[in-house]
Amino acid sequence: MNAKLSLAPLTQVETELLAVLAADTQTEKGPDAKPQPELLTMDGAVTSAAAAVLASGEFKAGVNETLLLHAPAGLAAKRLLLIGIGKQSRLNAHAVRNAAGVAVRAAKPRGIRDVAFVTPDSLELPSTRSARAAAEGAFIGDFDPDTYRTDRKDLSVQTFTVIGPESADQSALEAALNEGSIIGESQNFARTLVNEPGNKLTPTMLGRRASAMAIETGLKFTISSTDVIKELKMGAFWSVSQGSEEPPALIVLRYEPEGVTEGPVLGLVGKGITFDTGGISLKPADNMEKMKYDMAGAAAMLGAMRAIALLKPRVRVICVVCSAENMPDGKAQKPGDVQTAMSGKTIEIINTDAEGRLVLADGLAYAKKLGCTHLIDAATLTGACVVALGMVNAGAFSNDETSFTRFNQALETSGEKFWRLPLGDEYADMIKSDIADIKNTGGRWGGAITAAEFLKAFAEDTPWIHLDIAGMAWIEDSRPYIAKGPSGIAVRSILEWARSY
Ligand code: BES
Ligand code: MN
Ligand code: ZN
Repeated sequence: MNAKLSLAPLTQVETELLAVLAADTQTEKGPDAKPQPELLTMDGAVTSAAAAVLASGEFKAGVNETLLLHAPAGLAAKRLLLIGIGKQSRLNAHAVRNAAGVAVRAAKPRGIRDVAFVTPDSLELPSTRSARAAAEGAFIGDFDPDTYRTDRKDLSVQTFTVIGPESADQSALEAALNEGSIIGESQNFARTLVNEPGNKLTPTMLGRRASAMAIETGLKFTISSTDVIKELKMGAFWSVSQGSEEPPALIVLRYEPEGVTEGPVLGLVGKGITFDTGGISLKPADNMEKMKYDMAGAAAMLGAMRAIALLKPRVRVICVVCSAENMPDGKAQKPGDVQTAMSGKTIEIINTDAEGRLVLADGLAYAKKLGCTHLIDAATLTGACVVALGMVNAGAFSNDETSFTRFNQALETSGEKFWRLPLGDEYADMIKSDIADIKNTGGRWGGAITAAEFLKAFAEDTPWIHLDIAGMAWIEDSRPYIAKGPSGIAVRSILEWARSY
């Protein structure tokens, strides 16, 4: 998909599909208060083309509601698509992002290859903000997961034209559009990785994809495997990998902007389990196929690095991905085994299915060793987090108020939903071991939190944020603005957090 800008008058826009937002301007409440849909454009021709259908009451401008008109009178466009955002007060960048996704996903099944999207007229929402969000949403909406269907038809939208107000500052809008495109494409980069099945995307292949991206975007990188992992004494990481025929991959990407030699070094650490069988503590067969997405944390970090490399913030960033396959075989680790992590801490393995925290323990310690001053990790870490927050919010944890405040601010821009869960010594007590320094599970209750406490023991005093994306990395049912399958959650938030430095 190619996103571009036009400041042409709406009547003259030649396109297969012209998408315009509409809001319900009814402010009264109660049974007699009928929806009052109004277009979010002042353009006279578009307004008259839609006047009859708006008056009919058939279209209420509800959230993501659409209505398609053919051969709209007075317009050069072949079709006019109205997209509801709900109440007028809901108009913000997030509504625009979703609406752009809706436009693209309405076009795809109809074989429409070119979409034009009108930025809403609004005093509160600058057109640059809209343009950026629209580009993000268009790329996100364009993604479909049917990669391996042999009868697959590529229905991608080829041109997505954002129509800005005629009076707009063209170069500012172009910059915003470019930014949104990079972000949307980077989120899709992460989704493409997550979508790959375990047999196609082994740790080695994940390393190859990461290095190809690094070469393309100018990041420095090293990809290493068993020898280096053993040399670095990453006993926790290796313990997960030892039960698989597939070699592990330690992926390190570095973003070093020219002239930046001082200030923070951000460490992005991702869980890259390319398939999680549970190991000797084998998972039940039901839904086990989903465990190909157990590398979504790693994918989020790689997606964020791609965007960072292209958007060039003035801060140094190091990404560490620990990738392995969690398998049960003759060499696999067993419950009761004791492992020594890179930091020197000893870990009693209670459950080999609590493997994510093991690879991250060494990933966090390694990021610190490489000089990172601020850490963030992302992982599909616990089923308990899904129980706690459902598939609506991802979990967030932190040992540092300042870092977390920055992250929360990043969410305002990214529009992603994370909810902070607590940490505390009482939880840390739950993962004390009789034989070693720490054990890798804390029992049934508060499982997302004891997992976070485990990671905290390896982040130590370094400011650190942990994102548990287990419930949010895979979308079970399609939505009007995004396909079912890998969501690419956390790419945008991690990027914004990094840019805030
Ligand atoms: N990868 C899973 C967590 C997960 C669950 C991700 C559901 C996505 C959806 C993780 O490695 C795991 O197995 N966690 C265990 C921990 C337990 C053994 C303490 C869990 O959550 O059951
Ligand atoms: Mn597991
Ligand atoms: Zn796992």
